[in-house]
Amino acid sequence: MNSVLVESLDHEGRGIARSDGKTIFIEGALPGERVEFLSHRRKPTFEQATMSALLRASPLRCAPRCPHFGVCGGCSMQHLDTSAQVAVKQRVLENALWHLARVRAEVIYPALHGPDWGYRFRARLGVIQVPGETGVLVGFHEKKSSYIADMQRCEILPPALSRLLVPLRGLIAGLSIANRIPQIEVAVGEEKTVLVLRNLLPFTQADIRHVLAFGEAWGMRMWYQPGGPDTARPFDQDETPWLTYSLPEFDVRLKFKPTDFTQVNIPINRALMHRAMQLLDPRPGERIADLFCGLGNFSLPIAARGARVHGVEGSAALTARAAENARDNGLGERCRFSVANLFEATPASLARLGPLDKMLIDPPRDGAIAVCKALDDSAPRRIVYVSCNPATLARDSGVLVGEKGYRLRGAGVANMFPQTSHVESIALFERD
Ligand SMILES: C[S@@+](CC[C@H](N)C(=O)[O-])C[C@H]1O[C@@H](n2cnc3c(N)ncnc32)[C@H](O)[C@@H]1O
Repeated sequence: MNSVLVESLDHEGRGIARSDGKTIFIEGALPGERVEFLSHRRKPTFEQATMSALLRASPLRCAPRCPHFGVCGGCSMQHLDTSAQVAVKQRVLENALWHLARVRAEVIYPALHGPDWGYRFRARLGVIQVPGETGVLVGFHEKKSSYIADMQRCEILPPALSRLLVPLRGLIAGLSIANRIPQIEVAVGEEKTVLVLRNLLPFTQADIRHVLAFGEAWGMRMWYQPGGPDTARPFDQDETPWLTYSLPEFDVRLKFKPTDFTQVNIPINRALMHRAMQLLDPRPGERIADLFCGLGNFSLPIAARGARVHGVEGSAALTARAAENARDNGLGERCRFSVANLFEATPASLARLGPLDKMLIDPPRDGAIAVCKALDDSAPRRIVYVSCNPATLARDSGVLVGEKGYRLRGAGVANMFPQTSHVESIALFERD
């Protein structure tokens, strides 16, 4: 079998090599390594493969900490030293900007680092009842499959949650509706950790006793969710129906529900917020839009710096939570929130936000192409763009720089999801 030299990594953490004029994407291989591979997909110009033999290892290769590495679809970069992972992510960002949009950042910001392990303060665990001895599985999906991995622990969950993966199997197996619980949402707040059981059928009284005893034994607050995310509530009716996290630098505390969108990595969220506010530099009297504002994660720090903020978001439940968060933190007068589908933004809909000094954009993976295209001559001079997908950030940068006259003043990554190939980044655009 031919061996190849791996040249770089792609955005999914696969090694890239060339062989017979084709590009080969090799799972498990690292740059600088000489490997043999087995192809599982062959196309005229490329092949997808897995590494079958490692002939020369990279000095950056390390032993994966997790016993489920290679099976669980969660953390595909554990075999690479964590600081090298960050360098790879930075290169993924720069490559996306250049290859997809012919844009280069004037400055590359130093990467933001947080904890390498135990950082996932929010997660959705899959649950399945399987025939045979295993009974019930609780965990993340296997690689490229809808099966739930047979996991005993998870190194990126906080230890108090990781150790529950096996006991949760027993809990679910003992319920009358064991095969009607497809997922468990976990969320860590400052005062408590919540486990939300998504139930497709009602619990019996015996089930409820069983669930509450489990929560008591493991120090967890137990919730159920009979319908959509808004139906999640505590089994214990006296419990406050929310969790909180705080951003001490801005002296704000935000309420959230375990099913709300919140950034999963709280320490990195704080670092990202610090960087975002440095770049945005909100000043008293300024008017700033926070697009895709969620429950006010960026809006409240902007208002805490003295600016007036108008948050826009697609979910009415989240804008309501954002408004409540602003009031609770004494920032209600400087904050306004409205609901809109920003994928359909137009110059007219943006004009309704009034004159703006600055803008922060934090879209989902699909990016913010409609917003970028809708910016006209009256658009703010400074835009801070927080992105969870370098490809859509690059595409949108192409519009901002190529069509709207902005300069990409700087860009950098935040290691929000260590051990995985996900790339979170932040960019600053300015125009005269
Ligand atoms: C990456 S999250 C950011 C949330 C918030 N900025 C934060 O830091 O917590 C993206 C947000 O975009 C919202 N969203 C998704 N699609 C949308 C759309 N078409 N129009 C407006 N908001 C949308 C989601 O509800 C979510 O709150």
